[in-house]
Amino acid sequence: MNIVVFGAGAIGSLFGALLSKKNKVVLVGRAPHVTCIQKNGLTIKGKTHRSVKVAAVESATDVLFIADLIILTVKSYDTETASKAIRPCMSDSTMVLSIQNGLGNIEKIGNSIHKSHILAGVTTQGAIFSKPGGIIHTGEGNTILGELHGTQSARLKNLVDLFNEAGIKTQETSDIVTEIWIKTIINSSINPLTAFLRCKNGYLLENPLLEKIIERVCTESTRVATSQGISTSPLEMIEKTKEVIRNTAKNYSSMLQSIQQGKKTEIDAINGALIRIGTNQNIDTTLNRILTELIHPS
Ligand code: PAF
Repeated sequence: MNIVVFGAGAIGSLFGALLSKKNKVVLVGRAPHVTCIQKNGLTIKGKTHRSVKVAAVESATDVLFIADLIILTVKSYDTETASKAIRPCMSDSTMVLSIQNGLGNIEKIGNSIHKSHILAGVTTQGAIFSKPGGIIHTGEGNTILGELHGTQSARLKNLVDLFNEAGIKTQETSDIVTEIWIKTIINSSINPLTAFLRCKNGYLLENPLLEKIIERVCTESTRVATSQGISTSPLEMIEKTKEVIRNTAKNYSSMLQSIQQGKKTEIDAINGALIRIGTNQNIDTTLNRILTELIHPS
């Protein structure tokens, strides 16, 4: 398959490298990461240990093929720009797979690309940058992919097989919308807390007070989700969040990594989106507001 991974951050680079074993892959990202990959290849350490020669470019205009699959791994605030940029690499049958954090990405992609092209996924794989051209695979998580309307299509099955063959543990779901909400609830506590405290995910369960805060934030965010017809419970979400913390204990969350790199965070697509929806539904979102204030004092 011809695959473009648009967003060569840590997760995008990991997926691109693993998929490049059996597919033609181009990573689209920024210098100096891209220039180092062009010169020396991509080095992965941690759970995966290898050095991979993979094509990398700084702009979609430098992709010289029509893609069968475009994996969007850009930050949520770049979704609109990325969706426009990838159009020249697409044919009528190109699949655009969003594996991103937060709410609202599908809607943003849908403004530039017909919905029939779009699939979505969530992942709890953990990866961080070690240096330009180098990443560390910090946590072996799960990836879940689905069609927007829940159909169990042949193309979805092919994608799940493609990911599993590449060593990315993946399942299909008939309800990706719920999975995106679940991931957002998980991110709503882990990401801002680790970003504020500058700690690894695992630290959140080493401190009883932080554990309590995780439970309360999960409960508040779950109330927002259930108001939108998402079928889950605070107890289930607390368990899931703690499981992700345990599985990614050595990871620095994506929000902390953004802050360490002096980049914008995804707080608006995660906690900000929960606050907006909660406010419309008259649901108390005090904790999400406090976490947002901690990351972006107004
Ligand atoms: O955003 C992140 O960092 C990840 O979604 C997760 C699963 C919380 C692991 O750090």
